[in-house]
Amino acid sequence: MIKFPFFRKNGKPPGGRRPVDLFSVGKEDLLFHEKFKGLRAMVEQKADLHRMKLLGITSSIAGEGKTVTSAQLGRSLASTGRKKVLLVDVDIRKADLTHGMGERRSPGLTEYLLGGATLQQVTRATQVPSLSLITTGSEVNSPADLLAGDKFKSFLQEIRTSFDMILLDTPPVLPVADTPTIRELPDGFLFVYRVGHTPYTMLRQAMEELGEKNVIGAVLNGVDVASDSYYRKYYGGYYHGKPVSVIDRTAEKEAIR
Ligand SMILES: Nc1ncnc2c1ncn2[C@@H]1O[C@H](COP(=O)(O)OP(=O)(O)OP(=O)(O)O)[C@@H](O)[C@H]1O
Ligand SMILES: [Mg+2]
Repeated sequence: MIKFPFFRKNGKPPGGRRPVDLFSVGKEDLLFHEKFKGLRAMVEQKADLHRMKLLGITSSIAGEGKTVTSAQLGRSLASTGRKKVLLVDVDIRKADLTHGMGERRSPGLTEYLLGGATLQQVTRATQVPSLSLITTGSEVNSPADLLAGDKFKSFLQEIRTSFDMILLDTPPVLPVADTPTIRELPDGFLFVYRVGHTPYTMLRQAMEELGEKNVIGAVLNGVDVASDSYYRKYYGGYYHGKPVSVIDRTAEKEAIR
């Protein structure tokens, strides 16, 4: 399992749900991109080793950092030029990835699934070369039903042929019915959990529902390095040994100087 803590200077991500610009998150943190490079390396390694190209980004509950992780990891993967990367906003209710990348909903996924647009029409270029985006499309009454249909399966098959890596920004596992319908479809899930925000019981429950074998890695979001022993204790079984990427406070201070 990949363990990837984000160390924020005050250890706390801001509240609020809709980021204005997803690429501006973490701009004030000089090490933020470095942390994503570490995550990218781990994801690339696993993906190449296990021939995975379709990854879902999920978490137990709302507000843990799925959308930020999707956008920043997508940008990081695309920036090497090694992979053609596609982000898909599968959180049809919220459309945070869509809005956070400065795009309108339509035409997007729902138009494609309902037969109102072609794949070419819904695939948008972004400000990052090699990074494309499929937005949510307009709101529908029951996103879960749409995502459970055969058309969504064939959509995933089709995008697999055109991209090297696909990241699906999905709703959380516990409070909504959309994730179970897509649980079997990606090659694996990256599981985000926000330290001090997600009760352990919910983390366990979400992991069980998702099936641990489907989780290729975990992103610990909002970790303060000073509380390392706290989250080690708190998340017990999900946090063995040292995180793969450790940036301590000394390094942080030196980088700022
Ligand atoms: N490491 C971080 N540093 C700074 N801000 C962060 C970080 N992680 C998340 N945020 C901010 O916290 C809020 C929630 O993040 P995000 O929207 O990515 O969560 P989510 O899991 O996608 O939530 P939802 O379940 O509602 O879709 C956003 O305002 C985001 O910008
Ligand atoms: Mg989100």
